[in-house]
Amino acid sequence: MGGVTAPLELSLAGRDLLRISDLAPAEAEAILDLAVELRERPKQPLLVGATLGLYFSKHSTRTRVSFSAGMTQLGGAALPLTPEELQLSRGESLPDTARALSRYLDALAVRTHEHAELEAWAEWASIPVINALTAEEHPCQALADALTIRDRLGQLEGVRVAWVGDGSNVLVSLAALGERLGYRVVAACPEGYEPCNTLLQGLEVVRDPREAVEGADVVVTDTWISMGQEHERAKRLLDLEPYRLDRELLALAAPDAFVLHCLPAHPGEEITADVLYGDRSAIWDEAGNRLHVQKALLVLLLGAR
Ligand code: CP
Ligand code: NVA
Repeated sequence: MGGVTAPLELSLAGRDLLRISDLAPAEAEAILDLAVELRERPKQPLLVGATLGLYFSKHSTRTRVSFSAGMTQLGGAALPLTPEELQLSRGESLPDTARALSRYLDALAVRTHEHAELEAWAEWASIPVINALTAEEHPCQALADALTIRDRLGQLEGVRVAWVGDGSNVLVSLAALGERLGYRVVAACPEGYEPCNTLLQGLEVVRDPREAVEGADVVVTDTWISMGQEHERAKRLLDLEPYRLDRELLALAAPDAFVLHCLPAHPGEEITADVLYGDRSAIWDEAGNRLHVQKALLVLLLGAR
């Protein structure tokens, strides 16, 4: 299924979400608005009889469980599919697997390493395919982050977001969504740790974490060691050490600034425990919003709204 660019009429039905750039600004806003509605009335029978496949070849707590619980709340079901238990691991091709799964499922969420593999799923499946995280993007996370910011500040337009640390998949999606929804991201990343897409208009990359955080409304970080980078652990811990989000760094942000982190967190590495669990952390609300935005996304992609 092909990505669609900025349709005049709002319709996400039958589409894929592989990258934030698949969404027009009005579509991203519609997802956030519906998420708020579903948060207020969580158990609406909008997807009765629908099944979401969860093809995850990487670990997951939040994404897996929020998609599953979300489908249950909407009257549908989710089916976890690990690569090991499919004929795929015995040599059946991805196109054939995608063709067959499309005959049973209504949508497929894929978490994998290479973004190109996600694109192959989308190419061969005839049902909506959702990026549940690749090495390049994490669009469901960005939608939850934008909702959390909008919840707290009442708007996204003009909001100044600081990012500190690794230029991860989460940063790319967050900045791409900012381009669409009006917030700006200044990211402090060490040399060699810049995001894979630095061409985003809503993103400025600097070296000094203090420069990024100074006056920011929101401060965001992510693990220093993303899934698939475990072999670089020692070097990453060393290189990213000056980018830890601690109380001292956060003190440079706006007086009522708050902190986001997609989780899982590594207290003492990218964030200190006092910031993670402190009163300026919006991290647990952010985790909760994963459920609401993904439910909204499913309802819209499956044409139930
Ligand atoms: N933030 C996030 O995607 O968490 P999981 O890896 O637990 O799904
Ligand atoms: N950047 C992290 C996000 C985990 C949700 C990773 O890709 O592992």
